[in-house]
Amino acid sequence: MILITGGTGYIGSHTAIALSNAGSKAVILDNFSNSNFTVLSRISRICGAQQIFVKGDVRDAARLTSIFDQFPITAVIHFAGLKSVGESVQQPLEYYDNNVLGTAKVLETMRRANVKTFIFSSSATVYGNPRNVPIKENYPLSATNPYGRSKLIVENILTDFYQSSPDWNIAVLRYFNPVGAHESGLIGEDPKGVPNNLLPYISQVAIGLRSKLTIFGSDYPTIDGTGVRDYIHVMDLAEGHVAALNYFNKKQGFITANLGTGHGYSVLEMVKAFEAASSRKIPYEFAERRRGDVAECWSDPTFAREILGWKASRKIEKMCTDSWHWQLQNLKGFK
Ligand code: NAD
Ligand code: UD1
Repeated sequence: MILITGGTGYIGSHTAIALSNAGSKAVILDNFSNSNFTVLSRISRICGAQQIFVKGDVRDAARLTSIFDQFPITAVIHFAGLKSVGESVQQPLEYYDNNVLGTAKVLETMRRANVKTFIFSSSATVYGNPRNVPIKENYPLSATNPYGRSKLIVENILTDFYQSSPDWNIAVLRYFNPVGAHESGLIGEDPKGVPNNLLPYISQVAIGLRSKLTIFGSDYPTIDGTGVRDYIHVMDLAEGHVAALNYFNKKQGFITANLGTGHGYSVLEMVKAFEAASSRKIPYEFAERRRGDVAECWSDPTFAREILGWKASRKIEKMCTDSWHWQLQNLKGFK
């Protein structure tokens, strides 16, 4: 049985479905700080089975321990954490507490329960301002904000911890830009307030919740002057976690892998693709570059393909169609 922390969040909920599709059972733990309880019934509907859920915080050692006492957990996929770059600059202590100390608490509880397989949600943000694209796992790492630093600190903690406990299985998965939704349209990304990320913003413009998209920067050295990113369908990403668990059924060790598609798309290309998927016009205007943004960030996913036998297969059209389907069916998200 797999413990999914943060399992009612965007990526966690899709991973719960991917695990169920693969025939695995899961326990979902979440404190609902950035999600909604409705997600649970939606996951159950998609999977055709009631989800096992525990409401709680990963920093609550007693609650965590009780999960390991109650269920035969064999591995943990750790999504729980805070993820907004801007917010992390305003509230660094909250980010270090939740993301760093929270992860340490999970590891400590696992050690006590003798559960030794851990999958961690890292981010392409750990590559800082990459010198070259596509980005390989061995490229230099750096952080430009507390959110990114919290991911880097946890990666370092995991490296140290593995040195001391080489009988563990640890996968650090560095996500590029997750987008899209489950094709049922029942679950998807439900940002609070004004979306920070591109696709949720575009889809709120398409549905009429916002009047136009502001494109941050038109003078990057890219194909059309706008920023280029490696957008990956959230179900492909979710399946990457199943692949990592399968890997540990056969082998042991510590792996770090990029989860991306290996293709970059510009903001304007994403706007066009979304217009085609939704048959709606996306009005936009150009503004100054956003602080901290890089021109291009896309992955070399070769290592994940070779070692995990995993490759993203859903194309940009599917990413946009599924985002739109989710948005159309859930005008106000899960509310
Ligand atoms: P999300 O906010 O949708 O999901 C995180 C979930 O964790 C939420 O349901 C939230 O309620 C829960 N949570 C937060 N703190 C908790 C705590 N202390 N105890 C229990 N539950 C807690 O975010 P997401 O997009 O699904 O991201 C999941 C993970 O992947 C995060 O660690 C994030 O940093 C990482 N990541 C996300 C992206 C992205 O673009 N979405 C990119 C790279 C990495
Ligand atoms: C952001 C985070 C990064 C995180 C990643 C995936 C910042 C500075 N970085 O990066 O840490 O790992 O999400 O979750 O927040 N764009 C617009 N207008 C918008 C929104 C975005 O033009 O309203 C542009 C951006 O300038 C960028 C591209 O769209 O070129 C993608 O932006 P976004 O979705 O925020 O992802 P990242 O910039 O990769």
